[in-house]
Amino acid sequence: MHITVNEIKKDPKIAALIDSANRMLEAIGYTEHGPRHVGFVSATAGRILSELGFPQRDCQLAAIAGWVHDVGNAVNRLNHGISGGVLLFPLLLETGLPIEEVTAIVGAVGNHEEQNGKVISALSAALVIADKADAHRTRVRRMPYNAADIHDRVNYSIGSNQVEVDAQRREIRIQISMDETSSVMDFLEIYLSRMLMCEEAAGFLGCRFQLVVNGVLINRQGQKRAEA
Ligand SMILES: [Fe+2]
Ligand SMILES: [Fe+2]
Repeated sequence: MHITVNEIKKDPKIAALIDSANRMLEAIGYTEHGPRHVGFVSATAGRILSELGFPQRDCQLAAIAGWVHDVGNAVNRLNHGISGGVLLFPLLLETGLPIEEVTAIVGAVGNHEEQNGKVISALSAALVIADKADAHRTRVRRMPYNAADIHDRVNYSIGSNQVEVDAQRREIRIQISMDETSSVMDFLEIYLSRMLMCEEAAGFLGCRFQLVVNGVLINRQGQKRAEA
């Protein structure tokens, strides 16, 4: 019997790491990285592969990778993808996942950060897009939000974020609605390198990546690259 994401969610050691990572990031002023964030990434990564027609087991592994991808923050924010992969190797083996599934997951986790990661597999591509798509008002911890903090300002302005997959047209789209609390310029100031990594990830999946903010397509470069 295959280990499912629901079983991984019940693992007490992994749950403790997620909790610790979230509290550590709160202490240094970062947005929410707890069960809401990793739950969104888990569900979205699994759905991306499912909508593209990948085998069910690949979708489950993407959902597991999404759930565990940020545990490295329990060690340090810096290089947390890499430390997370190292932490997870023995823990995931302990859950009963076969070694080849564990190595696939730790590789995807170890490459999910734009600072030092590269898209290395379909699993990794789905994880990157799902993770980078999660800018949302509910991630702001301080209320009233701190308007001087660009992360708070951008996240607070985003009332909805959706990842749309059009398997026929080979398009993966992040649709964001933001209000006047922030601006597209603010969003790009902190998300540009992440959106470029999403272009790389969509390309790996044989798709064009589109970033749409308030109904306006922001990136044409990804289309050109995919059509070239
Ligand atoms: Fe992360
Ligand atoms: Fe994340």
